[in-house]
Amino acid sequence: MLFQETLMLLAASMAVDASQALMPTPPMGFNNWARFECALNQTIFTETADAMVSKGLVKAGYDRVNIDDCWPLHERAANGSLQWDPEKFPNGLIWLGQYLKNRNLKFGIYSDAGNLTCGGYPGSLNYEEIDAETFSSWGIDYLKLDGCNVYNQGSLDSEQTYKNIYGHWHQVILNMSRPLIFSESAPAYFSGEANLTDWYLVMDWVPGYGELACHSNDIATFDTPNPWESILTNYGFEILLARYQSPGYFNDPDFLIVDHANLTLDEKKSHFALWASFSAPLIISAYIPDLTDDEIAYLTNEDLIAIDQDALGLQATLVSQDGTWDVLSKSLSNGDRLLTILNRGDEAGSLSVPFERLGYPSQYSGIFVVKDLWTGATSEVSNQITANVPSHGTAVFRVSSRLAAIPTGMIFNTASLNCLTANGSSVRWTKCTGSDTQIWQITSGRSISSLSDLSKCLSRDAKSGTVALEVCQGWHKSQKWDYAITGNVQNQASSDCLTEGQDGVVTLVECLVENNSQVFELPSGSLQR
Ligand SMILES: *[C@@H]1O[C@H](CO)[C@@H](O)[C@H](O)[C@H]1NC(C)=O
Ligand SMILES: *[C@@H]1O[C@H](CO)[C@@H](O)[C@H](O)[C@H]1NC(C)=O
Ligand SMILES: *[C@@H]1O[C@H](CO)[C@@H](O)[C@H](O)[C@H]1NC(C)=O
Ligand SMILES: *[C@@H]1O[C@H](CO)[C@@H](O)[C@H](O)[C@H]1NC(C)=O
Ligand SMILES: *[C@@H]1O[C@H](CO)[C@@H](O)[C@H](O)[C@H]1NC(C)=O
Ligand SMILES: *[C@@H]1O[C@H](CO)[C@@H](O)[C@H](O)[C@H]1NC(C)=O
Ligand SMILES: *[C@@H]1O[C@H](CO)[C@@H](O)[C@H](O)[C@H]1NC(C)=O
Ligand SMILES: *[C@@H]1O[C@H](CO)[C@@H](O)[C@H](O)[C@H]1NC(C)=O
Repeated sequence: MLFQETLMLLAASMAVDASQALMPTPPMGFNNWARFECALNQTIFTETADAMVSKGLVKAGYDRVNIDDCWPLHERAANGSLQWDPEKFPNGLIWLGQYLKNRNLKFGIYSDAGNLTCGGYPGSLNYEEIDAETFSSWGIDYLKLDGCNVYNQGSLDSEQTYKNIYGHWHQVILNMSRPLIFSESAPAYFSGEANLTDWYLVMDWVPGYGELACHSNDIATFDTPNPWESILTNYGFEILLARYQSPGYFNDPDFLIVDHANLTLDEKKSHFALWASFSAPLIISAYIPDLTDDEIAYLTNEDLIAIDQDALGLQATLVSQDGTWDVLSKSLSNGDRLLTILNRGDEAGSLSVPFERLGYPSQYSGIFVVKDLWTGATSEVSNQITANVPSHGTAVFRVSSRLAAIPTGMIFNTASLNCLTANGSSVRWTKCTGSDTQIWQITSGRSISSLSDLSKCLSRDAKSGTVALEVCQGWHKSQKWDYAITGNVQNQASSDCLTEGQDGVVTLVECLVENNSQVFELPSGSLQR
């Protein structure tokens, strides 16, 4: 497919009107998988539902209970419908759905795109209409469709095969009088490759077909060691995908593993704060009746839930990254700005972030009102925010001012993870260090300037055809760049795309479809829809 053609198709599939969206903000609730895997039963779900009410989770917005794999019998009924396992669910799923409804909880279920689920139970391939109808008749409104055992004539599981099956499901769901919320696991089957093309080709269609997508690894289950590494791994995949998210479609970095034995409270709070900063699904996979007061306290933090559920639905993006500190930001629907600071280091530490790095004008010396979302304390601050953050902790602040913020932060290649770096009048792709030379402002006029010298704009040099930093001339097309959902950054004068060439050279090359050298993440808000 031609590049322009791809873009036009994507633009059409992405045109989701937030007010019409089935799910304008990310889901919140419970799923049994990471905590119980296949050892599930009715009691877990009834006890969980009761505890979600009594511990205030329902009141805080957690309104879903989702069953994962291993719930059905191994055989379908004579008429082809799936059947719940009556040993695991003695009163049945219709009864359980009613039990949840009586507690203001919605009911979600799991199936698989292929002919078997990951756990070896019947999959939905060729039973899509029947299964959708069955789930609906049980009072279910949410389907997670996994992607195990998807075959293409017995062998290759290609991107196109997944697209056909998930696309068919999309049609089936559109036909329903009460459409299911559709959680697509397809991208997870293409993540983690050195060649990112197929992963991104899948990501290009999932937002058009459903409301959320598990994009990478399953998060650590209760019985796996090193959950902090697992959280950071999924965080690392999530930050490559911010451009895909908007109200009605959410990237899913997987469950909140609140009662994992090998996480510290600071790590659990980080997990929650990072997921909330992403406006990610907040789906708890833990034994909720036994959660501690500390755990319930952070899960029900109203300020952080408001960040997660913000109407803009933006995913926070990286302002800077230096190996120890990750700084992220995004805009909020009331004009406020979020600042999130993750300390990856093994020691507690302190970091100051100037307001300029949050997208506010550098000349402005006025006061910002800053709320610490962990303590709830509000203070008036000028110039910069300083945070003291424990090892593996995350500080989160909500910044209010009369000024509008400009999208500001790193521009990085999602394959090499190199940062666009200014050096005088030249640019290169280099290791990210957190320097001002790697922090870029993207104006509404589509120009791109580094904080190290805002008088210069990223330009196509007409003589050499390469990329340079030249004195900004607001109107000039050689200094205007369009950022597409595919990750391409296209120059308006030449229609070529920003590229990472050999040895970090910045070049302008004919636009390619989801090629490692041309897929970039820009500060959230840079993408025009
Ligand atoms: C339900 O599952 C849990 C966790 O696997 C187990 O501890 C409990 O004994 C089970 N209860 C019943 C009634 O099967
Ligand atoms: C199919 O069979 C099952 C089990 O006998 C039954 O519960 C269900 O209502 C049937 N579905 C339809 C659509 O008739
Ligand atoms: C699933 O599909 C594969 C490949 O087409 C086939 O070999 C296998 O027998 C199928 N399994 C079931 C349970 O239908
Ligand atoms: C959707 O409904 C129409 C009209 O009832 C039907 O012709 C079509 O086959 C259905 N499509 C799917 C994918 O179920
Ligand atoms: C990206 O495109 C270049 C130039 O066409 C090609 O050599 C390279 O193999 C492509 N990379 C990937 C990962 O497909
Ligand atoms: C990367 O994957 C794409 C899609 O499968 C393929 O067309 C391309 O040739 C691959 N590139 C390399 C360098 O293997
Ligand atoms: C926790 O970590 C210890 C080693 O540090 C390991 O032995 C144990 O298996 C881990 N427990 C879990 C539940 O991951
Ligand atoms: C910046 O450019 C100068 C002159 O081209 C070069 O000598 C220097 O190594 C570059 N600095 C960095 C950090 O790349």
